[in-house]
Amino acid sequence: MRAVGLYRYLPIEDSQSLVDLDIPQPNNPTSGHDLLVAIKAISVNPVDTKVRRGLIPITVQIEKNTPHILGWDAAGEVVESGSDCTLFKKGDAVYYAGSISRPLGTNCEFHLVDERIVGRKPKSLSFEEAAAMPLTTITAWEALYDRLSLYPDVVKGKTTAPSHPILPTDVPYINNKKRNEHQSYILIIGGAGGVGSIAIQLAKNLVNRSSSPSSPFMTSSSSFSGINVIATASRTESVEWCKRMGADFVVDHHKNLKSQIKEVIGIDYVDYILCLNETDGHFESMKQLVAPQGKICSIVQTKGPVDLGGELLHKSATFVWELMFTRSLYQTPDMVSQHYLLNTIADLIDNNKIKSTLTDVLSPINSENLRKAHKKLESGTTIGKIVLSGF
Ligand SMILES: NC(=O)c1ccc[n+]([C@@H]2O[C@H](COP(=O)([O-])OP(=O)(O)OC[C@H]3O[C@@H](n4cnc5c(N)ncnc54)[C@H](OP(=O)(O)O)[C@@H]3O)[C@@H](O)[C@H]2O)c1
Repeated sequence: MRAVGLYRYLPIEDSQSLVDLDIPQPNNPTSGHDLLVAIKAISVNPVDTKVRRGLIPITVQIEKNTPHILGWDAAGEVVESGSDCTLFKKGDAVYYAGSISRPLGTNCEFHLVDERIVGRKPKSLSFEEAAAMPLTTITAWEALYDRLSLYPDVVKGKTTAPSHPILPTDVPYINNKKRNEHQSYILIIGGAGGVGSIAIQLAKNLVNRSSSPSSPFMTSSSSFSGINVIATASRTESVEWCKRMGADFVVDHHKNLKSQIKEVIGIDYVDYILCLNETDGHFESMKQLVAPQGKICSIVQTKGPVDLGGELLHKSATFVWELMFTRSLYQTPDMVSQHYLLNTIADLIDNNKIKSTLTDVLSPINSENLRKAHKKLESGTTIGKIVLSGF
């Protein structure tokens, strides 16, 4: 089958950094949870470029003379399913983000994937539009809802935030008026990129409008009317894109975030911060901006040590990581939640609540186009998602 891969981890300018290959097709799955999928479209993420450069140690290492086939995001059609599969069958259209611990990626014609991390392709989207979504959507969803503990109003069993276990709603000394009037804010650093584009939509459209979130300022009887989204972007086109995704405010990540937020919105703190770029560079700003008892989630590994004490301790602030590969890497018991998450997003897309973040399609899937996509992503100026289509 046709594939694009590499034998050595090289800079993207090197013509050997990604090469066209003819490799054996994977065997049909006869047992287990695997699906064999005929790939129609793939999307490229920064993880593809980091693995290609040899920067990510948790992934499989290439063996001598065996090419490494990269790629995680894909949309395609099920060709065969293992005997333990119950979620999909031959002919189903699917979309998924794969696992970083498996040797064969999605940059090839046929791919094996565990059905527990696969979703049904949104019916209203083309394969290209669908391929743009899975990896960034899983990341944004898990960051907002599993790590920052915001509450989406679409998931059964998660519709009501727990009320404070010991605090009555009408306590003397607590300024309930102030708490009821409190507006919640989330700052999304890197709003126009792949993850930011869907994180803005999820935060703006899906945070529960009828129950209160875990915001320190709010009582369980507060009428919570959603969250205000502050995104960051530094260019006219990326600012416009963030607004189109639903951001209420946009500030520039190359300028002082605290003073811009004070000037534009008039607030000193934000309840939640989602950091999607340069964790080290934004760390001091995040420490200053996070509210007392607020929460920060980052998805980008720091380059060096950061100080989790001082102001973060004084504020009893939470700092939490999100890695969307954790569930498949450790085969966690709740790994199948990514299947349900992708299906929920498919329903939301088909009901026009969420839109695809696709901005660019290159065709066909070959080394030349994949190198173009990697190069663009490495420039750090991508808006939305780049997809490659057809072999
Ligand atoms: N932990 C996980 O599970 C996980 C999952 C997905 C991605 N990631 C990581 O998250 C990062 C973002 O991924 P992505 O797909 O969203 O990337 P992306 O699409 O390449 O992000 C591009 C955006 O980054 C913005 N940007 C550039 N420099 C910035 C800075 N100094 N501060 C804030 N924003 C900046 C740019 O905005 P302007 O053009 O407006 O400057 C651009 O729109 C990558 O490092 C990726 O590896 C982690």
